[in-house]
Amino acid sequence: MTLSISKLGDRLGAAAEGVDMNALVPNDAERLRAALADNLVLCVRGQKLEPQAYFDAMGVFGKQLPQPSASANHPVVKDLLILSSEDRDVLGDGQRLVAGAAWHTDDSYRAVPCSLTTLYGVEVPATGGDTQFVNMYAAYDDLPDATKARIGALRVVHSYAPSRQLNKVAKRTAEDMATMPDVIHPLVRTHPVTGRKALYLNPNRMESVLGLERADSDALLDEMAAHATQPKYQYRHKWRQGDIVVWDNRCTMHKANADYPEGSRRYMLRVIVEGTVPV
Ligand code: SIN
Repeated sequence: MTLSISKLGDRLGAAAEGVDMNALVPNDAERLRAALADNLVLCVRGQKLEPQAYFDAMGVFGKQLPQPSASANHPVVKDLLILSSEDRDVLGDGQRLVAGAAWHTDDSYRAVPCSLTTLYGVEVPATGGDTQFVNMYAAYDDLPDATKARIGALRVVHSYAPSRQLNKVAKRTAEDMATMPDVIHPLVRTHPVTGRKALYLNPNRMESVLGLERADSDALLDEMAAHATQPKYQYRHKWRQGDIVVWDNRCTMHKANADYPEGSRRYMLRVIVEGTVPV
């Protein structure tokens, strides 16, 4: 097998083929990490892994973290999260839950958000269920200098359930909520590995900009989100069964689409990788 890497989108995204994550050799591991750093989103095609083997294989990208959840942990490999078309808000109203249906970056409601997320398409619908991504380096780079100067030092309150929340999230126990107080992150962050600046937004978790009046804060957050999610910054991933897609939450946002036909099943397994405090 020979590893080959090709571009997927104009602004981000690459596909890796000819590699078996069950038996990755060090040289290929290095090339996958480099492809992710260069392209922000990396799809490793054609994988067939048992849940524990998938979890272990993701160690190539960094230290895997536990993902406490009300209901969605894998029954055998507890640190894997299941994202499925059958998800329901079990502690809340019992209704269907589509994780990640609004633009977001993972975990920004935590003081130390994960750096990377990996999602394994174990079962994917024949049509629909794409994941969209945006390049937040490019969104930042394209801002006028006056805007960069205006927002460069601003900080934003992120919350698990902010008043501006766009899509339903799973209800958590009071005990869980106590571990997730509101946190403050910069609006522009510097990637700890590349040193590049990126807009750091999470329209689904941002409450307000520190020091701004509510109306001004809402207007700025809406303006930045509208700017960053323009089609020119996007790559839309059409899943194939066996894809493992890895993305860098420090310089991208993403969004799930639950537009597949009734009765189609979408079953994904998620791993998150340790990050650092955004600065
Ligand atoms: C997520 O937002 O983490 C999941 C994305 C997806 O299911 O496509």
